[in-house]
Amino acid sequence: MDEGYSVTPWSVSGVVDYDKLIKDFGTQPITPDLKERLLYLAGERHHSIERGIYYSHRDLDAVLNDFEKGNKFFLYTGRGPSGPMHIGHAIQFYMTSWLQKRFGANTYIQLTDDEKYLEEKNESLEETNKWAKDNILDIIAAGFDPEKTFIFQDTEYIGNIYKLAVKVARKINFSVVRAVFGFTGETNIGFSFYPAIQIVPSLFEKNRCLIPCAIDQDPFWRLQRDIAESLGYKKAAAIHSKFLPPLTGIAGKMSASAPETAIYLTDTANEIRKKIWKNAFTGGKATIEEHRRFGGNPDVDVPYLWLEMFFEESSARLKKIRDDYVAGKLLSGEMKEILIEKVTKFIELHQQRREKARELLDTFMHSGKLAKLMWDKIYS
Ligand code: TYM
Repeated sequence: MDEGYSVTPWSVSGVVDYDKLIKDFGTQPITPDLKERLLYLAGERHHSIERGIYYSHRDLDAVLNDFEKGNKFFLYTGRGPSGPMHIGHAIQFYMTSWLQKRFGANTYIQLTDDEKYLEEKNESLEETNKWAKDNILDIIAAGFDPEKTFIFQDTEYIGNIYKLAVKVARKINFSVVRAVFGFTGETNIGFSFYPAIQIVPSLFEKNRCLIPCAIDQDPFWRLQRDIAESLGYKKAAAIHSKFLPPLTGIAGKMSASAPETAIYLTDTANEIRKKIWKNAFTGGKATIEEHRRFGGNPDVDVPYLWLEMFFEESSARLKKIRDDYVAGKLLSGEMKEILIEKVTKFIELHQQRREKARELLDTFMHSGKLAKLMWDKIYS
């Protein structure tokens, strides 16, 4: 990979060159035509798609062809529960829930408490189990249909998928995972098997699977696409988003383990205000006079970028904010205030739904229509 940045499912550093990443990973850009086709078939606009936040894909055109022919596709996404969820994670679940509503798709959500235990040297398995149950509340709060969604935790559901996981695993050589994920002689052996576990849910139905995620997860889908057909399944399709940048600047991705870089879905209004005021990197000038004269740079201004990626739904308002900032009419502090108001409102509503989600935990994991079906099934 190019010097200056690196993207793997477990770490992102440097300022990511997203166009180059498409070439490195061998994915396709979402062209303006494909974007319009997706929005047309969805029957509703979505600002994160319109603005190219989801910018890369695999086989999205095939998914839409299936849909137009009346064939169903299903959605699959997931979360590695190593701590509280932040708003970068939330973007993926809100997008998946929007797609579920617009296309009526069955949705499978994997909580990889096993993966995070293998990865995080300081966390016990009990802790990642516990975070899984906590994170599921945030996932439910994104608005999924309880009858059409199955949320499962690897360490609990493994018995139902183990046979299929073994079949996937036998198809993948160690030299391939070493090259794709950068494993070394120091990597624990749990990780050499783990990719099979993350691939299996993309085979839950014989229909095509569409996976919304950030681009860091793509290496798994590259492997999936090499082996799926030989096991009698379809190659997975995916739509990939860019990363919501850390509050502290545009390099890397927001990290759940670095609290100053992230806003958690459980943060209070006070914490949100403090973090944005204290840590948000701006594209403003050193003094107000200079800013008024020369204007700010929205393309490195994290509060602006967060508004663009997720928090400001109105494109007309976003354009005015951008124009005013460039013209020096809007100050960095005012930009921060706009973001604080949006994030606080979003989190407040999210937390209300999160509280109600406690009652629904069992429906999504065990007793809902899709969940029941899935517990009756042993994949082989
Ligand atoms: P995890 O927990 O690292 O991330 C969960 C989802 O959030 C995306 N993501 C982000 N999106 C935008 N901005 C960010 N700063 C940001 N950081 C993370 C991730 O791409 C992911 O979509 N191995 C996975 C769990 C998993 C999974 C899946 C994810 C299992 N099956 C299927 C996606 C699809 C993980 O640890 O994700």
